Amino acid sequence: AAIEKGGFDHFMLKEIFEQPKTIFDSLRGRLDLDKSSVTLSGIEAIEDKIKQARRIIIVACGTSWHAGLMAEYVIEELCRINVEVEYASEFRYRNPIITKEDVIIAISQSGETADTLVALENAKEQGATIFGLVNVVGSSIARISHAGAYTHAGPEIGVASTKAYTAQLAVLQLIALKIAKIKGTISDERFNTLLLDLAEVPEKVDFILNNQVENIQRIASKYSGAQDALFLGRGFNFPTALEGALKLKEISYIHAEGYPAAEMKHGPIALVDENLPVIFVATKDSYHDKIISNMQEIKARKGKVIAIVSEGDEIASSLADDFIVVPNCNEVIAPLLAVIPLQLLSYYIGIERGVDVDKPRNLAKSVTVE
Ligand code: G6P
Repeated sequence: AAIEKGGFDHFMLKEIFEQPKTIFDSLRGRLDLDKSSVTLSGIEAIEDKIKQARRIIIVACGTSWHAGLMAEYVIEELCRINVEVEYASEFRYRNPIITKEDVIIAISQSGETADTLVALENAKEQGATIFGLVNVVGSSIARISHAGAYTHAGPEIGVASTKAYTAQLAVLQLIALKIAKIKGTISDERFNTLLLDLAEVPEKVDFILNNQVENIQRIASKYSGAQDALFLGRGFNFPTALEGALKLKEISYIHAEGYPAAEMKHGPIALVDENLPVIFVATKDSYHDKIISNMQEIKARKGKVIAIVSEGDEIASSLADDFIVVPNCNEVIAPLLAVIPLQLLSYYIGIERGVDVDKPRNLAKSVTVE
């Protein structure tokens, strides 16, 4: 078993450290800097459907749903098409309005999640076009899709998803860029900038893994006794906050909630006291000053602020009790970097609390029953 884990104590840690490679694999053969192009045969196969579509519906569960939520922000921004993100379990039962013009993107690591599979079968019967973004080759969802793309993250053993999530994010970025090209909604300049930034993600993830682990271990032991935690983010990183909270819940059993940073004024702020760690995903973006004022609001109520900050951001790091630095990048791509410290923080807090992080209680790797 030690050999299978490649020298790491757990599959989860091994999979976190594999991410520079798995993200690279998910981009390989698709992102071409020399030709400044994105090749995705699955999207090309349904190009006409995408041109006609008035909306894209994303269907998923769990961590894959968070990847879908990030895709909503990115696709709407770059492709100017309406995107709805649906929990498969809700979508399948509420008699959704589906037409032949609808394009559905299904996201699933296992390709076997029962709710997602049945939701797709129903939508397919009603004439929708199904695009599957799946990790497990030949899985049920891959087979019922009209077209698709594999995430190429390799087998994921840890129950809490890590490398499959970042591979989903990477391919969803490519999908957004490809659709934007098809629809002519992106300038060459922006396309090329994003392509270059995306290509740099693997080495930037590597930088985080090489430079922040001791810092994160220290922060994990400082806060491992917490009863609750709040994760806040805005815009492209709002889904990152949700994913950070889910990860912590799954493998530390600490109650955690993710919220849009400004929305915390409408409820969660009532929980803030000197014992509550509030984790801000505060990487640089076009409305960075907004999240800075949200941090000040938490500090004013004596909450403990842990911030994920961009390199060189003195303002955010000086406001925080503890901070974790990630390299600078385009705000559209930031979710790929910002989630890495959150995965590590959850892992080390889970370890401090003695949780079997690879197999947390009550959870299953793939949920093949309702
Ligand atoms: C389970 C797993 C999660 C996963 C979710 C959806 O809850 O524990 O890690 O995100 O199912 O699974 P899928 O295979 O469809 O992505």
